[in-house]
Amino acid sequence: METVGVVGLGIMGAGIVEVFARAGLRVVGVDVDENAVARGLAHLERSTGRAVERGRLGADERAELLGRITLSADRGSLAEVDLVVEAVPEVMELKRALFADLDRICKPSAVLATNTSSLSVTTIAAMTSRPSRVVGLHFFNPAPVMKLVEVVTTVLTEDGLAGEIAELAGRLGKTPIVVGDRAGFVANRLLLGYLNQACRMLEAGIATRDDIDVAMREGAGLPMGPFQLLDLIGLDTAYEICEVLFYETKNHRHAPAPVLRELVTARRHGRKCGHGFHPRTARPTAPPATGPKVAVTTIGIVGTGAEHLRERLDAAGFKTIDGHDDADVVLAIAPAPVVEIAVGLPRPERVVGVHPVGDKVAELAVTVLTSPEIATAVRDLTRVMALTPVVCADRAGFVVEALLFPYLNDALRMVESGYASFADVDTAMKLGCGYPQGPFEMLDAFGLETVRDGLRALYAEYREPAFAPAPLLERLVVAGVTDIPNRANANTLKGVEER
Ligand code: 3HC
Repeated sequence: METVGVVGLGIMGAGIVEVFARAGLRVVGVDVDENAVARGLAHLERSTGRAVERGRLGADERAELLGRITLSADRGSLAEVDLVVEAVPEVMELKRALFADLDRICKPSAVLATNTSSLSVTTIAAMTSRPSRVVGLHFFNPAPVMKLVEVVTTVLTEDGLAGEIAELAGRLGKTPIVVGDRAGFVANRLLLGYLNQACRMLEAGIATRDDIDVAMREGAGLPMGPFQLLDLIGLDTAYEICEVLFYETKNHRHAPAPVLRELVTARRHGRKCGHGFHPRTARPTAPPATGPKVAVTTIGIVGTGAEHLRERLDAAGFKTIDGHDDADVVLAIAPAPVVEIAVGLPRPERVVGVHPVGDKVAELAVTVLTSPEIATAVRDLTRVMALTPVVCADRAGFVVEALLFPYLNDALRMVESGYASFADVDTAMKLGCGYPQGPFEMLDAFGLETVRDGLRALYAEYREPAFAPAPLLERLVVAGVTDIPNRANANTLKGVEER
């Protein structure tokens, strides 16, 4: 394949044009009218200009790259390309009409690919007279940066085509995974469940937007917080993906959170329009210290497992004591419900749950009995301990584990269902979403039993079916399996395949 077409020159489409041109292919980019074409060109010039500024691309190379690109408002210019990638908005009617058109315009040997995030590739393929040569080719935003490409096949795809497209993805410097046609494929199916849950957590008032973002970025080590990422993806796109996922799975976890619908209706679509959960320029940070409103000299510590916190407090000149007597505030090192501890103490309004996450963040669980002054004082104390405070309600899993464990559970259910392998799922989340670890590497790092118990606690609290530990997780715990990506395939999948 030497010449490719890209239809739709929005952020994703223009990014895909750049990816092909960088790899030395000639690209014909098409959009509906001259204005849309001009926007696509501006995007390409900005992105490649930035690469030159940062020394990632020479000025000559940039000129050559742009020279390989032809942009047009005429679909007829796609007649001779070997492959077309469609990147128009996620509206099935639009895609069906486009593919019927491309089928007429493009030469019979051309492969027609859709960059859809979640829509059925089979339905799109069926609109053409060449369904065996229609595939999904799913890039991740920003397309020039993210290394994953999902190659989506259908029951109609001809033998060998997936391999050919995967090879092409390799030429583009991407890592392909080949998967079947299920809503959301691998990455979006896992990602959107998590992002949607973050929206519900916000709506339920468990923590603020910025605290949730900070918790997931600095605590869990993800490249962006969920609301920053939703703004990058586009709230309209995220909403549509959730709709499609829910339509297929009927899983409440995928039913779009009402706040998403509200923001989309208000046209707050995220970065592309300047405002989503965050205004364009805002980088979420924890609120500044407010200064102590409660004089704190003696800090009571209940529970064990966070000795370094005590050391840091001692080093900062506070007096720490075991228990609660005479303490100005009491830090309960315990999982939720912290209120169970607080209610048994003489002054429960002084008690805040503390849960360190990694070495940068401490979740602070404020119970219904905690006084606002004490909550503020403990937030400030957390900074004294050189940790970023994340204030949250006294709920199972607090913020980080409440969001991560169900995502890990979803990943296990996905493998259990036979849709993708452990290795492909890990690859998808690392290279598609920039996660430092894939879900199974993360599961190993937390410890399977910890995650299983965390899920049981979440299920007991919310009675949400998606939080019930996957049967595969229960089996892995019983079997004492660790190092899942390397060890579990043979043993556990054998059982799955035999069913
Ligand atoms: N276009 C081109 N290059 C870009 C870019 C863009 N829009 N944004 C960032 N970059 C490049 C920068 O030039 C820089 O390259 P360099 O180091 O060689 O100079 C590199 O990416 C890192 O950029 P920054 O230093 O500016 O910013 P960060 O380090 O904060 O990284 C990020 C930005 C790469 C976006 C990172 O935050 C990340 O990986 N976030 C997760 C993104 C993600 O999850 N994407 C998938 C979303 S789901 C999806 O797309 C599927 C769809 O169907 C919905």
